[in-house]
Amino acid sequence: MNQQICLITGATDGIGKQTALALAKKGYKIVIVGRNKNKTEAVKKEIEESSTGSTVDYLLADFTSLKQIHQLVETFKSRYTKLDVLINNIGIFSAERKLTEDDYEMCYQVNYLSQFFLSNLLLDYIKKSTNGRIINLSSMVYSKGKFDIDNLQSEKKFAILDTYADTKLFTVMFTMQLAEQVKGTKVTVNNVDPGIVRTQMVSNAPGMLKIFSYITRPFSVSPEKGAVTSIYLASSEEVNNVSGKYFKNSKAVATKNKFNTKENRELLWDISMKQLQKSSGNFNLKPNT
Ligand SMILES: NC(=O)c1ccc[n+]([C@@H]2O[C@H](COP(=O)([O-])OP(=O)(O)OC[C@H]3O[C@@H](n4cnc5c(N)ncnc54)[C@H](OP(=O)(O)O)[C@@H]3O)[C@@H](O)[C@H]2O)c1
Repeated sequence: MNQQICLITGATDGIGKQTALALAKKGYKIVIVGRNKNKTEAVKKEIEESSTGSTVDYLLADFTSLKQIHQLVETFKSRYTKLDVLINNIGIFSAERKLTEDDYEMCYQVNYLSQFFLSNLLLDYIKKSTNGRIINLSSMVYSKGKFDIDNLQSEKKFAILDTYADTKLFTVMFTMQLAEQVKGTKVTVNNVDPGIVRTQMVSNAPGMLKIFSYITRPFSVSPEKGAVTSIYLASSEEVNNVSGKYFKNSKAVATKNKFNTKENRELLWDISMKQLQKSSGNFNLKPNT
């Protein structure tokens, strides 16, 4: 049987976990990515128990470490021969400007660069699928994000929401650029805006965002509802050939941000590719675009 394989990052909680639960019920072979072994094993068990007959695999990686992201790719490739759906779901707020062990700003690496790395390092496996799909979680705040070449990692100015918004804009720009790169192949790549969702990320939001989280609570939806568009993009035949779009409530909608130009998308791609190549030299995995 040619079972569809779906790799989901940030799958131990919130939207990612609900996406994994729903796709396991639809018969996908789910590979969840977590950072805490006990929590990840508990979620694996929960998904298996709620979707009769499914076996869930898991991989561990802390996305503040590029070494662990590279190891994740190596382990996935040693276990599987193709990848049908990659859901780059992981996302965080950072309370202050902190650097990862790789010297990148935390939000930049976890929210954006990890998507760029995983998508590029796994692209050869995604191309082996009959209809490979890459799904990147963005957010409506991308519209407030800025592409400032001197502040891509909040070097000049850090603010919790601004820095997060920048990374979500980069996700939108990257999705459009990757869609261009894979045109003519069977691979599609799209963005998800899940709405305002009652997850730990929102309820534990740092600083002033706590107020935002409180004010928006009446408009927020459950993690099950927040996962609907990711599930749709992963599994619906309606989107077999749709690529480079931004989806909200399972519908493609126009994006609006003056920084999202062809020139900036190409520049961001070049910068990120250099970062990937630099780290690949350290960890022995080559990008394959
Ligand atoms: N919630 C919203 O209102 C909302 C709105 C717009 C966009 N989004 C986007 O939707 C996506 C999912 O968000 P969510 O609300 O479902 O978040 P969440 O409930 O906080 O879940 C985040 C997931 O990411 C994992 N994670 C966090 N830091 C990690 C790290 N350093 N290494 C590995 N895994 C890590 C968490 O692992 P643990 O279980 O170990 O903590 C968890 O599985 C994100 O991209 C977010 O930006 C959310």
